[in-house]
Amino acid sequence: MEKAITVLVGAGSIGLAIIRRVSAGRHIVLADNSVENAQRAAKTLEDAGFECSVIPCDLGFKEDILRLVEFATSKGEVVNMVNAAGVSPSQAPVEEILRVDLYGTSVLLEEFGKVIAQGGSGVIISSQSGHRLPALPQEQNDALATTPVDELLELPFLTEINDTLKAYQYSKRCNVLRVMMEATRWGRRGATINSISPGIIITPLANDELHGPRKDGYLKMIEGMPARRAGTPDEVGDLAEFLMSSRGRFISGADLLIDGGCTASYWYGDLQYLKSTH
Ligand SMILES: NC(=O)c1ccc[n+]([C@@H]2O[C@H](COP(=O)([O-])OP(=O)(O)OC[C@H]3O[C@@H](n4cnc5c(N)ncnc54)[C@H](O)[C@@H]3O)[C@@H](O)[C@H]2O)c1
Repeated sequence: MEKAITVLVGAGSIGLAIIRRVSAGRHIVLADNSVENAQRAAKTLEDAGFECSVIPCDLGFKEDILRLVEFATSKGEVVNMVNAAGVSPSQAPVEEILRVDLYGTSVLLEEFGKVIAQGGSGVIISSQSGHRLPALPQEQNDALATTPVDELLELPFLTEINDTLKAYQYSKRCNVLRVMMEATRWGRRGATINSISPGIIITPLANDELHGPRKDGYLKMIEGMPARRAGTPDEVGDLAEFLMSSRGRFISGADLLIDGGCTASYWYGDLQYLKSTH
């Protein structure tokens, strides 16, 4: 008998916390450009009773996404799709951030929107970073939301970007806008799609930062947040599980900020000093 399929793109800390909450009794397809990461994740999941398969996939390339869709649908009906793959401003140059985080996520939304099961749902991991970009002109919002995917990277205001933080912020803003537009298409299949914008979440990379040379800056930022602590992948997982559960059916096209109040503090509280650098 065919099993229901859950797809995870980006088998890192946040993605795994989400996928294990929604995949009992289902088959998980793990897609990552690091086969090593995906295989390690598969072993952990299999040791916890989940059934998985792994496919190499670079989110920045449409061919890889089309191959992933074909692979996943050959195994069964895709009931959940989660995108937790991404590159951060300190990990990649401008072109790669835009290609993976902005373009790739847009292609993924479009392609899974064509095959998602009736009543299915998806979650895209965006970032609080997108909430630090001031409001964009309506024409730019519309362009990010609706430009055909293959023309997205040619938008003049994107080609002008020359720093990685800005590239990341525009990408994450685009994710949120694209999710709104796609929610109208996914809805025709009775499916929902939302984004989650996490703040500082402890993952191996964030943990390194917290103990590395930039430790003091991080600790100061955490002290200035209402929650006065970083978040955990499990807290993002709980929110994503809710969005993809029967209780979340009235939520679609939304972006949920989960950042311990960091964005509030950035605009109106103790973290306003970050405005000149972040
Ligand atoms: N950790 C945080 O504090 C934080 C905060 C806000 C947003 N985010 C976002 O959450 C998402 C996941 O982050 P994480 O902290 O779990 O990171 P992570 O490094 O633990 O996981 C990311 C995974 O994505 C994979 N990946 C990277 N580039 C890829 C590509 N081109 N194609 C396919 N897979 C790729 C990596 O191999 C890795 O397995 C990212 O989009 C990140 O921007 C993280």
